[in-house]
Order: sequence, then C-alpha cells, then structure tokens
Amino acid sequence: MEKKFKRTTVTSALPYANGGVHIGHLAGVYVPADIYVRYLRLKGEDVMFIGGSDEHGVPVTQRARKEGITPQQVVDRYHKMIKDSFEEFGISFDVYSRTTSATHHQFASDFFRKLYDDGKLIERTTKQFYDEATGTFKTDRDIVGECPYCHNEANGDQCEKCGRDLDPTELINPRSKESGAQLVLRDTTNWFLPLNEYEGWLKQWILEGHKEWRSNVYGQCKSWLDMELQPRAMTRDLDWGIPVPVEGAEGKVLYVWFDAPIGYISNTKELCESNPQRWGTWQQWWQQEDTRLVHFIGKDNIVFHCIIFPVMMKAHGGYIMPDNVPANEFLNLEGDKISTSRNWAVWLHEYLRDFPGKQDVLRYALTASAPETKDNDFTWAEFQARNNNELVAVYGNFVNRALQLTQKYYEGVVPACGELTDYDRETIAEFKDVKQKVENLLDNFKFRDAQKEAMNLARIGNKYIADCEPWKVIKTDPERVKTIINISLQLTANLAIAFEPFLPFSSKKLYQMLNVEPLGWENLGSTELLKAGHQLAKPELLFEKIEDEAIQAQMDRLERIKKENAQSSESYQAGLNGQVVKGEDEVNEAANVKVEPVKPEVTFDDFEKLDIRVGTVVSCEKVKKSNKLLKFEIADGELTSPSGEDGKGLRTILSGIAQHYQPEDLVGKQVCFIANFPPRKMMGLESQGMILSAVDADGSLSVITPQREVKPGSQVG
Ligand code: 2FM
Ligand code: ZN
Repeated sequence: MEKKFKRTTVTSALPYANGGVHIGHLAGVYVPADIYVRYLRLKGEDVMFIGGSDEHGVPVTQRARKEGITPQQVVDRYHKMIKDSFEEFGISFDVYSRTTSATHHQFASDFFRKLYDDGKLIERTTKQFYDEATGTFKTDRDIVGECPYCHNEANGDQCEKCGRDLDPTELINPRSKESGAQLVLRDTTNWFLPLNEYEGWLKQWILEGHKEWRSNVYGQCKSWLDMELQPRAMTRDLDWGIPVPVEGAEGKVLYVWFDAPIGYISNTKELCESNPQRWGTWQQWWQQEDTRLVHFIGKDNIVFHCIIFPVMMKAHGGYIMPDNVPANEFLNLEGDKISTSRNWAVWLHEYLRDFPGKQDVLRYALTASAPETKDNDFTWAEFQARNNNELVAVYGNFVNRALQLTQKYYEGVVPACGELTDYDRETIAEFKDVKQKVENLLDNFKFRDAQKEAMNLARIGNKYIADCEPWKVIKTDPERVKTIINISLQLTANLAIAFEPFLPFSSKKLYQMLNVEPLGWENLGSTELLKAGHQLAKPELLFEKIEDEAIQAQMDRLERIKKENAQSSESYQAGLNGQVVKGEDEVNEAANVKVEPVKPEVTFDDFEKLDIRVGTVVSCEKVKKSNKLLKFEIADGELTSPSGEDGKGLRTILSGIAQHYQPEDLVGKQVCFIANFPPRKMMGLESQGMILSAVDADGSLSVITPQREVKPGSQVG
C-alpha cells in the first residue's frame, strides 16, 4: 500500500555564493522545484520549500583571492545577488538563508561532533601538498603543474587540455596556484566517513527500494554502488569554513559537502524558530516518518544527495531518507556547455534588464526544454518561438478572444450558460481530463509534459471558439453566444489555475482581469468558476510578441563573447609563443578610426609621476541624481587602507561612464586607475582616483582592462 505522508520537505541545491544565477541553474533545479511546491500548495498540502546559499568551500576562496577581497565579502555580495534573482523569478522559497549563519555553524558543528563521539568517523593520515611559503595545505584545485600526459599546464584535479582526471601527486613540478611556490608532501590527519560500511544498506534502500527514481538518478547510484565505495574525508585543511569541533584540529574545517546539505536542516530550524506556530519544529520536517523528503538538484550533485548525505543522516540516526531525488541533466546554451569562466551563459539579472517583466516567458521556455532525461539546448530562436507561437498565439490569443468578446457583447459581464450542445459537452469533458493528466505528470516530476498538458487546455479553448464562431452566430442566435462565451470564460479561469505552478505572474494577472481571488487546484475542471452576472476587469494582453531585433541583440552578444574568448585564447597562445599577432580585420578596422593627434612630448620622468594600478571592481552602482556617475568600490591590494583600519581595504572611485555601462556588468572586472590623484569630491562623495577608458571613434567608452587577470594593486607601466 502506498505510504501516506502528512507533509513534504522540498529542498533545492544551495548554490555556491561565488557567482550569479544563470538559466542552467533555473532550468535544472529552481523552476522545477518551484513548480512542484506551488502545485502542492495549490492542492492545500503542507509543504516547506528550502533554499539558501552555499558559502563555504574552495571556489569561494579562489574567487576572493582573484578579486583581492575576503571570502566573507564574496559571499555577502553573491548571496544578495542570488537571493534577489530568485525573488524576481518567483522562486517561492519559504526560507532562503546561508551557510555562514550562526545557526548553521552550530548545527553542522554539533552534527559532526555527534558522529565523532559515536565513533562513526575514522581518522586517517594521508600525504598532501603543503606550501611552506604560506604555511598552508593545498586542495587539488589550488595546485598547478605539468600534465604527465600532454605536458600542458594542468590543475591538480584535472587537465583541461587533454581532459584527464588527475591526482595532484601525478603532476610534474607541482606548484601553488596562489604563490607559485614549489610544494612539498606532508602528513595530515583528517576524519573520514566510511561509506563502504553502508554499502549493503544503500543497495537495499536505493536499488531495491527506489526503482521508481528517474533512470538517470537510479543509474548513477547503481554505478557508484557497483564500484566499491571508499571512505570519504569529511574535513579539510583549509581556513574558510566551519572549524572542526575536535581538539587538535586547528586549521581544519568541515568539508563543504558535509556542511552544505546540513544547511537544509539548519535553514529549516531557522524558519521554525522564527514562526513556530506556522511551521512547528524542525524535527517534524526532518525526523518524522510521516514527512516526505524530496531533493531537487542537478546531475553533478547526485552522489552527494543519494549516497553521502543519506549515509551522514543514517550514521547520525533519527533522520528520514529522501523519498525522491528528481535530478536534472544539464542545459546547454546554443549548442555549447554553459560556462561561467567563459561567460557563456544567460545571467538572470541581464535577462531581466533586456526583457523586463518577462519572467514567465523564461520560466515557460526553460520548462519546455527542461533537461529532464538528457542534456538539452537553450536557443534564442526557440525561446522566441515558444513565446510567439505558444504563449502569444495559443494561450494569450484564447484568453484575449474570450475576454474581448465578453467586453464587446456584454460589457465585461459574464453571460449565463444556456442549454449545452453535444459539442459543448465533449469540450467540457476534454478539459475536465486535463486535471488528472497534469496531476499524474507532476506527481511523477514530469514538468515538461505537465506544462504541455496545461497548454493543451488553451488549445482546446482556441479550437472551441474557432469552431463555434460566435462572431457569426451572434447575428443569428444571440442566446447561443452567451453559452459559448460562458464556457470560454470558465475555460479561461481553468487556465489560470492550471498554469499557476508554471507561470505564476501570468496567472496573477489573469485573476486580476477576471476580477476573482486565486482559485485552488480542486477547482480545475469546473465549469462554475465565474457566476453569471460577474463583472470582469479591463482586459489586457497576457503576453507580447518578441521581435526579431531583441533576439538578434542576444545572438550578437553571444557572438561577441565567442570572439572575446577566441581572442583571449589566441593572445594567450601568442604570448606563449613570443609572437605578435595582428589579424587582417584589426588592421583594416584601425584604418577607419578617427584618431586624435598625438599630444606634445613628455619626459619619462613626467610619465613616472603617474601611479597607474590595476584593481578589481567589488561593487558598482549608479550615483543618485547623476546621469553620468558610477560609484565603484575597488579592491586595490589594500593600497587605500591596509585591512583592519577601516574594515574594508577598498578604494572608492567615481567615474563618468554611466551611459556606457550597466553597473552590474563591471562587477568582478579588473580596471586600470590612476592611484595618486588627490581625492576629489563629486555629488557629495569623495573619489580616490580615476578609472582609465579608451574612447572609441563614435565617442563610446571602453574601460581598460589587463589582458589577463593580475593581482589587485599591480602597477601599470
Ligand atoms: O553544486 C553546487 O552548486 C553546490 N553548492 C550544491 C550544494 S547542494 C546542498 F548540499 F547544499
Ligand atoms: Zn593533459
């Protein structure tokens, strides 16, 4: 017999707070999770939707080092940015917290300590690379050296040139990525979770007990379980993270993949404690057998959620296990893997800048090509087609016809339904079916097909109106038209319900146009949602056509990025070979540029007086009441104020380039600036230098940026 659950705990992978959110994240994890949760809520079920930022781990420290700021500054910036993006796209978390919170630190620390006290961890001494210059152990990703196979420079865990997975001890001449220093092997002790001891239990629980899991998830678990599981380190020699709560473990922190999933639980605790009346206790959501636990993740997280985290919970004792882990495959962009470092992505904040108010269009397009069973591709052409041919031409068109005809014939008042014809009955029966179909699909995490079924409802409506031709019948049988319009309006209200989980912004708008409060899921299929005599509000278009120009602008942007990537790898190669490369295009283009005449000669001493430096933009925003000024906070290698003095170590510079850049596009970029101009006040703010830009022939500005990333504070000369 199927188990009866009283509540559902839904988690979505905690994104690393070292970058923004892009369409891959949204399609893979957050949109499906949000659809599911909204659906359960609409059905009146008790559900908690947990999110948050994953703020520990090596990627955060790497980003901090690159930008010359602290890890805390990195996570503060991106936590806010990510949280804002989710809110803007209607990802309806009940809690969105962070793993640097005090609640989480305590919770994760206690969890580890219990495993330690209960003897569930094993202590192991291994040899690891150590940087004597900085007195720190290096993680695989912080080590570079020569690949033993292709002899190119490779990272400690993988060679990007030949694609081989590496162990850092294989590298020829291993060095620290940070300091460039030669590394030595040293003994270090860490605590390991003996996954191998849980193999039998895992096989039983997953391979026997969860054959219904998606085949990609089940398959990945099976291949892990077919190999012999090894003990896995749960602590690391690193200085960013949660200190290991064991005496003698100074300089060690909990492994990020140990603390991150515990973040789901500590975030639950935070929410419950903030409103115990609504949410009860965290134990209810994590330890009661009548609670159903579902993890939404991407495929790279499967082993952590299906094997490691369950073993952690099992070893601890008292926890329920996930009932399902609907992991998605990856979304590509225009045929290429999404890559943050190559900027091959559609960032959510950029999308909203270019398509304001069109959150639902992206939600729709991403669900329509969701990578549920295999990797899938997002293309701008398909995005446009989904909008123009489906949202506008099917859903929007039907709603618009129904509402406009009601305006035209009945001044926006719902007409009474008369006697039904056979065709009316057939149509009604068809759309009553949709509820069951959508439910079956959503219950089985088939979001793409479920959304198709919802759209099918609009197709039924379009066909109904087209077949009934009320605009003709009105001349011969006006009573009959009342019935046609009544049925069309009931269908419209059904659409608002069916699409609510997928397109919450549009449903809200549609409810407003129908002038009714949002309706519950149980009403789906009903033909009595709008009473005769009910006054509708003024109709507006639900969706707008997206023109070719808007799509072309996105394609141009990607083309530019492709070129930039090709150029930077070309100039990198040229640098390696000691050659100077100048493409033909570049020479021709240069000939057309209007060039300013050279200024009078100066001496080298004159030049030397200028102190030009490189800094990394930590934040950038428009200055209030100014059209031109942007305010930059720049990490300058602590030239301004050594860390500690003002707690920031950042330089403020105002620059008159607001008409040439969106502030958020410059965050994270390196710029060159004059460091020894006297401070100057503008619009009541003090500017501590001047950012250098090139002026193009058309007067547009382009900030000067070093060809490769350098340490903040580096001199330009
Ligand atoms: O892959 C990632 O982005 C991880 N930060 C996901 C963590 S999920 C959970 F365990 F918190
Ligand atoms: Zn290689």
